[in-house]
Amino acid sequence: AICVGIIFRSNNGASSSEDLKTNITSRCETFLKNNDLDSSESICNTLWMTFTKAFVGQDPCAVPPEAYRQLFQSKYPACNRTLFWSKTKEISHKYTKEKKCLETLEDTLLGSVMDGLTWCGKNNSNEIFTSGCPAWTECTMNPVRSFWNWSSGMFAEHTCGAATVMLNGSIATPFDPSSFFAIEVGRLIYPRVSGLTVVLVTQKNVTSCENDSLQNLQKVLDPSLKYSCKVIPQSQILDCISDPHTPCGKCW
Ligand code: APR
Repeated sequence: AICVGIIFRSNNGASSSEDLKTNITSRCETFLKNNDLDSSESICNTLWMTFTKAFVGQDPCAVPPEAYRQLFQSKYPACNRTLFWSKTKEISHKYTKEKKCLETLEDTLLGSVMDGLTWCGKNNSNEIFTSGCPAWTECTMNPVRSFWNWSSGMFAEHTCGAATVMLNGSIATPFDPSSFFAIEVGRLIYPRVSGLTVVLVTQKNVTSCENDSLQNLQKVLDPSLKYSCKVIPQSQILDCISDPHTPCGKCW
């Protein structure tokens, strides 16, 4: 009897909405607490309500990035402290978690709350779903992609000073023009942003800073920005992360 109850619950649209609400508000409260921010319950309730307004009742293939414009962020990284990433999710987050001198989008309120979640609604319905939502490539204007599109754009627009990106030097195309990072590149404007350093993380030396895709990156980057690129072995970054005595600025 207990089992039947659980199966019924997990297939019920209303309860998946309750689970998402519980998950999002508790992640939000944890974030505020861990970052010494005012953790009043109303911030996280407002976040939930603003979030749901963006996609509930909408066709899950027709939610534009602007639907999330009312969502607020806690605070963005200070100047010189932004870390972007593309195809380097694990190592870049490991790095910012251990060494506190750079921050990714997922170290901000919205990024940390939504990371790894799936959600969508349905036309003319109050329901919220956490499964059966459009696949990543099924339609580009799905609620999840549009959320990351919008929040990545905002993150880049709030970036100032010298920015850093970890790219994957073990793949043929470290800079993918269809990635979220490409959206971010387009929003890095001089003089708010002074430069971009590419940390090309390599496991086997397949890619160099001369890679064609990195030439394309330089072509789309604001020409006033100071561009630089360094090939850094992944093992060097991992050693640095696990050695508490190496200052974060000395990992590369
Ligand atoms: N299917 C499912 N999820 C995907 C897919 C896909 N085909 N492609 C990307 N994603 C999701 C992944 O979950 C991944 O965590 O998007 C995330 C980022 O994908 P990447 O291709 O590794 O990187 P990129 O698109 O450049 O996005 C990362 O954007 O979110 C911002 O500030 C952040 O700089 C970072 C950049």
